[in-house]
Amino acid sequence: MSIDRLIDQSHVVVCCGTGGVGKTTTSAVLALAAARRGRNAVVVTIDPAKRLADTLGLEELGDTAREIARDRWDPSGIAPPAGRLSALMLDTRATFDGLVHKHAESPEQAERILANRFYRNIAGALSGTQEYMAMEKLHELHDEGGFDIIVVDTPPTRHALDFLDAPARLTRLLDNRIFRLLMVPSRRSLRLASLAVQTFLRTVAKVIGSEVIDDIVAFFRAFEGMEQGFRERAVNVLELLAAPTTAFVLVTSPRRDAVGEAEFFAERLRESELSVDALIVNRVHPDFGVQSTPFELRARAREIGRREIAVGETEASARLALRYENLADYVSLAQHERDELARAGDRIGAGVVTFVPSLAHDVFDIAALDAVGRHLVG
Ligand SMILES: Nc1ncnc2c1ncn2[C@@H]1O[C@H](COP(=O)(O)OP(=O)(O)OP(=O)(O)O)[C@@H](O)[C@H]1O
Ligand SMILES: [Mg+2]
Repeated sequence: MSIDRLIDQSHVVVCCGTGGVGKTTTSAVLALAAARRGRNAVVVTIDPAKRLADTLGLEELGDTAREIARDRWDPSGIAPPAGRLSALMLDTRATFDGLVHKHAESPEQAERILANRFYRNIAGALSGTQEYMAMEKLHELHDEGGFDIIVVDTPPTRHALDFLDAPARLTRLLDNRIFRLLMVPSRRSLRLASLAVQTFLRTVAKVIGSEVIDDIVAFFRAFEGMEQGFRERAVNVLELLAAPTTAFVLVTSPRRDAVGEAEFFAERLRESELSVDALIVNRVHPDFGVQSTPFELRARAREIGRREIAVGETEASARLALRYENLADYVSLAQHERDELARAGDRIGAGVVTFVPSLAHDVFDIAALDAVGRHLVG
């Protein structure tokens, strides 16, 4: 397996990893490469800094997929005609509102939910909502987007795996007893329990204010009838994530803590019977443009030193010898880093381990995406 094959064959590619390692950059690079290889690609990014929009040359990225003009991503006009590139930025709030509109039983129900104060407060802020909405968006694009490949960037969560739990967490909330009781407050058999719940709510109301409680109750009631849909989509998303055409690309930096997180993440995936298809180690030391081994470089340094003594050459060769020593140190550091990371790749069980060196500058345009891409894709 190679990254090339991965983007040729996958329908969904999830780029995950801990904060700041290069998930957003990698997602864009992979979608761009897929488009260049003739696939209709979309990248779903979670990038409130809007850096990706700038990189792709868009004024802004919205909640729905926008196609990027071909001359931008394929200036030399060599990509196959079928290749297309679209991008969207996840807007948790807009996605949630869209879901309510789409799945409410009536426009009135949708309005009731959207106007609810509790909803307005939680829609963007509830922990896990962002991860959950990323999964909902994936579901939507998969269902009706018509894309060959969907590359999903994941949010910069403290725990790289929160998004995996998000659908289950929502299902758990929907299965929560109090929630269920609030949904069917009038059923006779539940009246007793309902009373208990009401007592509970009255106690809570003393602390957080009864208005808040009224909002919450109204919110849950307004949701009545919709929870089944949420549950079903949560199941579908988990199935989609487990499908053989879904690939997980784990991005890490060479830093020990990031690698540790990556290993932990892979372990969690394994528990969910998923696996890491590729490990991308971003921002490693470059190979310094030399083919020689550190041993050869040191031998060269010694040779220059000997020549200096033999023919009494100037200080310049002493400095040159030092440079060779220095280069030998760097090359050996870079090699050591890669060996170490390759072993981490084995432990993670990644089918492919690829290295991307630190560029001299930030990734801020298509050319820079290409510079990263050259290390990933043939
Ligand atoms: N190989 C590289 N060389 C130089 N700069 C890089 C490289 N890869 C990424 N960057 C830069 O590092 C920063 C973080 O990258 P990116 O936003 O892709 O990470 P992220 O994992 O999505 O972060 P977050 O977890 O905050 O969403 C960006 O400024 C990006 O331009
Ligand atoms: Mg990001």
